[in-house]
Amino acid sequence: MSIKSDRAETDRILHDRISEDLARKDQLPAQRLARQFRLSQTFKNAQAHTSSILEIGCGAGFSAEYLKDTYKTYKGIDHSSLLIAAASELHSAPGVTFEVADIATYKPKTQFDSTFLIGVLHHLDDPVGNLRRVTQFVSSGGYVLANEPQPGNPIITWARALRKITDNNYSSDQVEFTATELAAQFQEAGLIDITITPQGFFSTPFAEVAMPLQSIMTPISRIACALDNIIERLPGVRTWGRWLSWNIVVSGNVP
Ligand SMILES: C[S@@+](CC[C@H](N)C(=O)[O-])C[C@H]1O[C@@H](n2cnc3c(N)ncnc32)[C@H](O)[C@@H]1O
Repeated sequence: MSIKSDRAETDRILHDRISEDLARKDQLPAQRLARQFRLSQTFKNAQAHTSSILEIGCGAGFSAEYLKDTYKTYKGIDHSSLLIAAASELHSAPGVTFEVADIATYKPKTQFDSTFLIGVLHHLDDPVGNLRRVTQFVSSGGYVLANEPQPGNPIITWARALRKITDNNYSSDQVEFTATELAAQFQEAGLIDITITPQGFFSTPFAEVAMPLQSIMTPISRIACALDNIIERLPGVRTWGRWLSWNIVVSGNVP
């Protein structure tokens, strides 16, 4: 039997408590657009390695739906049993499986082409140790991808700090890793060809917060995603973008 750390147990209880709110985000059109966009930007460079994919911290499992044209098999794991129950109810389909599991102890039966984590790494007690374990689940040449909040933009860091104080559903003990720290974690875990790509300049608030007035917010979210799609392709964005963006996509290959 595994013993979870206090922090991991607090995180699991929090995600059980907010499971309905988390699942609802992808059912609101403005949020859905931005969350689907965030996922496609995370996978932008990895499309050749997605026949079998593992999502760690899959939440209510919407990635299984958003990525359905890209994989043969999708496995989602999460340590919140209520989120896995929601995922199984909403997204059961051929080739799709969900399992209640903690990444610190999870042992898959087969290897995967690629694995990904959206907003999960900073919740883990030992990011490098877990990345090292995850690397063993992925076949040679496959990708490990993470989309993480980052502290490069002081205004965004301030907004997040405010949210930690005012929003009970936002875990206050979470950290934001810098792009340099994320790259170092991937390197320490044994991954190669590491890339760091700033992600989300205008669209992220739509992905994160369930907004009222969906009829007004949905077209604005669409415009925000379109703008980000342009910005995320601009020359030099990997350098200057990290001072402005909400998130960072880190990508590494398994040797
Ligand atoms: C911020 S939520 C993101 C959920 C989902 N990826 C999304 O983008 O909506 C973080 C997720 O990671 C899960 N999680 C945190 N620590 C975990 C662990 N040690 N093992 C498995 N899942 C974990 C939480 O239960 C939660 O669903």
